[in-house]
Formats: sequence, C-alpha cells, structure tokens
Amino acid sequence: MSTTPIADRRTTSVAARATDLSKIYGQGETQVVALDRVTVEFRQAEFTAIMGPSGSGKSTLMHCVAGLDTFSSGSVRIGDTELGSLKDKQLTKLRRDKIGFIFQAFNLLPTLTALENITLPMDIAGRKPDKQWLDSVIQMVGLRDRLGHRPSQLSGGQQQRVAVARALASRPEIIFGDEPTGNLDSRSGAEVLGFLRNSVRELGQTVVMVTHDPVAASYADRVVFLADGRIVDEMYRPTAETVLDFMKQFDAKGRTS
Ligand SMILES: Nc1ncnc2c1ncn2[C@@H]1O[C@H](COP(=O)(O)OP(=O)(O)O)[C@@H](O)[C@H]1O
Ligand SMILES: [Mg+2]
Repeated sequence: MSTTPIADRRTTSVAARATDLSKIYGQGETQVVALDRVTVEFRQAEFTAIMGPSGSGKSTLMHCVAGLDTFSSGSVRIGDTELGSLKDKQLTKLRRDKIGFIFQAFNLLPTLTALENITLPMDIAGRKPDKQWLDSVIQMVGLRDRLGHRPSQLSGGQQQRVAVARALASRPEIIFGDEPTGNLDSRSGAEVLGFLRNSVRELGQTVVMVTHDPVAASYADRVVFLADGRIVDEMYRPTAETVLDFMKQFDAKGRTS
C-alpha cells in the first residue's frame, strides 16, 4: 500500500468533471460508441490514472475532457468553465492557459534548447513565466545543467522530463498525459512518474494519466478503470499488485461472460 495519506490533498475542489459524457464515432452500422455516459471527477492536487483494455475509450475520454476533441452529448467542465459553452477561440485559449499536455511522443522542437522548449507555450501566449515557479519546476525535474541542450543531445528520459517541465511551466489547472512513459525504459519511466507524483504532492498539481502499466498506475492516488466506454471501477491508493490483480479478475470475467 502507498504510505502517503490521501488526506494530504490540499483541497477537495474539482479541477475537471465529465457528466454523462458520450462520444459516438461514425453512423449506422459502422457506429462506435467510444464513451457511453461517463461521469467522472478529477479533484485538485490528485493524481489519477485511467486504465482499461485497448479500445475501451481511455484516449477519447482524455481528449474530450482536455478540450482536444468534441463530444456527442453530456458536458465537461474545467474548473468553473463548461467546455460546451465555448467558441473555438475561447477553447484554444482555455487549452493554452489552463491545461498542460504530456504525450507519448515527447513533441519537442528540435531546434530549440530545453529551456526554450519549456517556455515555448508561454512565449506563444505572450505570457511571462513566473521565475520562481519555473525555477522550482526545473529543480524538480533535475534539468538545471541541461537547459542549453537541444533534444537530440538529451536521452529519452531527459526529453520527457523537458515535456513534463513544459506542461508544468504555466501552472495549469490540470495536466493530462496519454501514456507519458510509453516510450521510456523502466528507469526513465520511473523518474518521470516520480516527478509527476512530486508535482502533485509538492506543488499541488492535478494530473490525469492514461496508462496500461500497473507499475505506472501505482504512482497515482487513484485508478479509474474503463471498459467498452464505461467506467467499471475505481481504486484508491493503488499498488502494482492490486492493479494487476484487478486486471486479471477483469480479464477472467470478460472471458466467462
Ligand atoms: N477517429 C476515430 N474514428 C472512429 N473510431 C474511433 C476513432 N478514434 C477512436 N475510435 C474508436 O473508439 C474506441 C475507443 O478508442 P480509444 O479512446 O482510442 O481507446 P483506448 O485509448 O482505450 O485504446 C475504439 O473502439 C476505437 O476504435
Ligand atoms: Mg489510447
């Protein structure tokens, strides 16, 4: 069991919420219900992992809640803002100002240094980074002596740490990651997951991460399990063992039903 008490959470307010969220692709015979009336909350300063079999709707859920994709029905709120009420420009602004993203592919610009990559979203938005905050983020991800390096001069793990720092730099309301450690060896993956967990514990960041890896999920405070576009269970204080046990049971049930 994780030894960090859940009561450590600084606040219980909700960073993001999906209510009765459905997403249907295609029409008629080719129709796919990717999300089927999903209701889920992501509380501030909580680290949530989203798990489930391939095709269960994990990426779709993340994309819809993060304002990267439209949905068919239901609603999504980031902080106090209903996404459905926003025009395209407002949605772009919300994504830029309130949401951080970490993807499987690090998505760094090769011609920019680590530091330039970290501050790029804020530079584009014309916002000055908070020096002290940026400093603590750089400290936390251990990149201080690599700030002048370009991505090609960094290891995969270091590049993903740059991506984590980039997501944290603007102090977003919430950070979403889709398999953020999917391209990393287990040691670099553990580092990146450790930084994400620290950002929650020490900086009060909210993080939602899609993963299929029980070890990665064990860094989270909570795991939400999806199957066929629905939330089928959730678990607090997951360990790699309890998550793996759950997945095995779930697979077994799936085969017999
Ligand atoms: N652009 C799309 N067009 C049609 N179907 C899609 C599209 N994207 C995803 N799907 C379908 O929606 C379901 C959920 O996909 P996804 O959210 O990517 O699952 P996961 O991330 O859990 O693997 C799957 O059946 C997938 O085939
Ligand atoms: Mg996916």
